[in-house]
Parts: sequence; structure tokens; C-alpha cells
Amino acid sequence: MKLCGREPDDCSSSSNRPIHVRIDNFRTAEQLLGTRRSPHLWESAPAGGTIDAGCRNAAAPERTAHKAGRKRKPMTTALPLPDFTHERVEVITGRRSGLFITVALHSSVLGSALGGARLWTYAHWSDALGDALRLSAAMTLKNAAAGLDAGGGKAVIGLTPGTELDAARRRDAFLDLGDAVEALGGLYRTAEDVGSTTHDMLVVSERTAHVVGLPDAVGGSGEPAGPTSLGVYEALRATLERVTGDPDVAGRRITISGLGQVGSRLAVRLSTEGADLTVTDVNPAKRDLAAELGAAWAPPGTEHLVPADVFVPAGLGGLLTDEIIDRLDARAVCGPANNPLADRDGADRLAARGILYAPDFVVNAGGVIYLDLVAKQLGTRAEIDARVAGIGNTVRRIFDDAAARGVTPLEAAEELAAARLRGDIREPALI
Ligand SMILES: NC(=O)c1ccc[n+]([C@@H]2O[C@H](COP(=O)([O-])OP(=O)(O)OC[C@H]3O[C@@H](n4cnc5c(N)ncnc54)[C@H](O)[C@@H]3O)[C@@H](O)[C@H]2O)c1
Repeated sequence: MKLCGREPDDCSSSSNRPIHVRIDNFRTAEQLLGTRRSPHLWESAPAGGTIDAGCRNAAAPERTAHKAGRKRKPMTTALPLPDFTHERVEVITGRRSGLFITVALHSSVLGSALGGARLWTYAHWSDALGDALRLSAAMTLKNAAAGLDAGGGKAVIGLTPGTELDAARRRDAFLDLGDAVEALGGLYRTAEDVGSTTHDMLVVSERTAHVVGLPDAVGGSGEPAGPTSLGVYEALRATLERVTGDPDVAGRRITISGLGQVGSRLAVRLSTEGADLTVTDVNPAKRDLAAELGAAWAPPGTEHLVPADVFVPAGLGGLLTDEIIDRLDARAVCGPANNPLADRDGADRLAARGILYAPDFVVNAGGVIYLDLVAKQLGTRAEIDARVAGIGNTVRRIFDDAAARGVTPLEAAEELAAARLRGDIREPALI
């Protein structure tokens, strides 16, 4: 598959000549399901690095680096590409920005796809493309398991190492993205993601109507971390119920790794409800929040050793390596971090140790549920919150299915998503 005539040494182009490749691959639901395991895929690892905590999911460092104006670590492919089961992929060199932009529509079987637009640095343009293919496929699973009538898609704007976007070029990048989204005619809707903001989505909206999560200030639905943390809270209660017999968080030992947008909101709520909290963050400034909440602080990298009823990964993906899992002193894992398992086999490893795992893409779906339902005007805020809170029941159902079939909760969650894609579950919403 030749994507462009350039040497593959740069994911941006100094040329203004647009390079536009469209790949169409319309698939039936059955074909999508033939490789349904591959969408639960891991994100790229940093260039030259081993796959360790922090490498799989750049969300937290990205946001932190972005906000602090620091440089992002480039990422390169350390992982195989998924089978190509995508319906359509737009790969362009932005007409204005000269940046490499991919819009990947994995599946519209359940409706117009929804997934964020990532802005990140990659060592090679093919890494950015690979990320888009993996992440869009993962969104098909997440949206299906969440009971949304929404397919899976994702956009990636790739920067070369060392590229710093000034305000004008950043604006150009998101205008270019808007054009690429528009080219899919509504089959894909974009939103903020790692490295992008609600303000960037406002820029996208100048070129396409197929964008959700605009800033509150213009009447948009804003940042989705609140609904995400609500969904995590309900999933955590369902998980506690399974391991202790009681969903109540009061007095339960809960360790949160990562006090960002989602983790901090969760920590405040759990503290208010009397949980016995241990927290950590690589950012030492977060100790202030720990002190405010009366939570114990664990030095980063040691939090998994603290005895806990539930361990909550809320920072980076890939935190749960084999070594960490083998030493994890918790009865269950339930948190918002995408891809907390460094390896898919981690689900079996946790199960072998008797540690219950609530699958990430079910637990953290509150944000996408919120964005989709607000965009479609399907309910009041209270009704949408109730749908998000229903993640707790989805988690219970997954634990039940896993126990009944003798599989891990991860497999049960994948099967739930697959059943919706096959049409075996007819109701539009599971939760
Ligand atoms: N924000 C959402 O609505 C949303 C939705 C779905 C999934 N997620 C996922 O949830 C996770 C948290 O999202 P967020 O929006 O709160 O991100 P964030 O960037 O606001 O916060 C992440 C926090 O984790 C900390 N951190 C980074 N590395 C760490 C480490 N090794 N140990 C401990 N702390 C570490 C960071 O300093 C930061 O404070 C991410 O994996 C994200 O992809 C978020």
C-alpha cells in the first residue's frame, strides 16, 4: 500500500501539494467480528524504548506536556498493526498545515462513528497511521459495549519529533482535520482527545458539522472528564460489590494512580464518601490534593504495593506489566486509564492471581456516552448521567458472563461488544 511519494522519514511535508489517499474497505459485521480480538490494541511505545509503564498510552503525559509546553516524546511502532478491517481511512497531508493527518473509520455498523482526534509526535508517519488504525478499532469495541448507536473511529494528527506548533499552524491543523472529517460525510464524528482541546474542536467546526464536545462557552458539551469519572465510580462500586459483597466505598481501601482530570474527580468523591484512600501521581504538585483529602500518599511506582480492595489506574496505560501484576496487592483493578494492561495476557495473569479486572473500555466509557447522547439530544443531563451510571450494571453483567463462561472479564466484555455488532442484542442501549 503506497501512501505517498515521499521518503518515509517525516510525517509532515514542506510541500503544499496535498497528498490524499483514500482506502475503502467496506466490511460486513461478520468480517469485523472475525478479528474482533485485535481491536483491543495497544498504543505505540516511545521511540527506542521498551514497553513499560507510560509507553502504551500517551494520554496523561501528553496532556501534561501539552499544558506545560514541554516537548512530547516521539512514539514509534513496537507493535503489529491490526488486521485491516476498517471501512474507510482518509490519509492526507494537510493543505494548510502540511501535517500528516489520518481519519480512520473502523466501523459504522452501529451508526456514525465517534472517537477523538489525537495530536501527538511520532517518529515515523506510519506510526501515526498505525495508531489511528488501532485506536479507531478500539473505539468500535468501546462504543458497542457502551450500548451506543455509534461506530468506531479516530483521527490522528502526526507531528515529527521536535515540531512545536505555533497558534497559527495549530489552527491550520484543525482546519485541515475538519476538511478530512467532512470528506467522510458524517460517517465519523470527531472530538477532543489526547493533545487536543475543546477549543481545537471549535476550529474543526468551522469546516464540518461532524464534531462534538465544543466548549461550554459556545453551548457545547465541554470536557467529558466529569461523566468519565461518574462511570468509573459506578464501575468501582460494582467491582467492590463483587469482591466484598457490598458496593459501598466507605472504609474500603482504594488506591488511585494518577490524579488528573478523571483521577482527581474520583478521589474527591471517594474521599467525601469515606473511602480509605491512597493516591499517587508523578506530578509532586498533586500532593496538595492528597493532603486536602486526607489521603495517604505513596511514592510513584510503589502504589501497587499498598494493600487495597481496588487498585485504580488513572494515569498512564501499560502500568500493569507482568512484574507489577505479580506484586499487586489488590483484590481488584478498576480504573479509567486506557489499556492499563501492558500485555493482553495480563487479564489472564490477574485472573490467575484471583484479582478481578474490570475492563478499561467498559469502565471509562462515560465520556463517550455523554458526548454521543448530548450531541444527539437524547435526554436531559440527568437522564444522560443515569445512562453513564448504568456502566455499573454493564460491569456486573460482564462479571456474571465471565463467571458463567469461565473466561476473563476482558473476554466477556469483548463478546458483549461483538454481540451488539452481530445484532444479537437488539436494544439500542444496554445501560
Ligand atoms: N478524560 C476522559 O474523559 C477520559 C476518558 C476515557 C479514558 N481516559 C483515560 O483515563 C486516563 C486519565 O485521563 P485524564 O483525562 O485524567 O488524564 P490527565 O492527563 O488529566 O491525568 C493523568 C494524570 O496521571 C499522572 N501520571 C502520569 N504518569 C503517572 C504514573 N506513572 N504514575 C502516577 N501518575 C501518573 C499525570 O501526572 C496526571 O496528573 C488516561 O489514560 C485517559 O486516556 C480519560
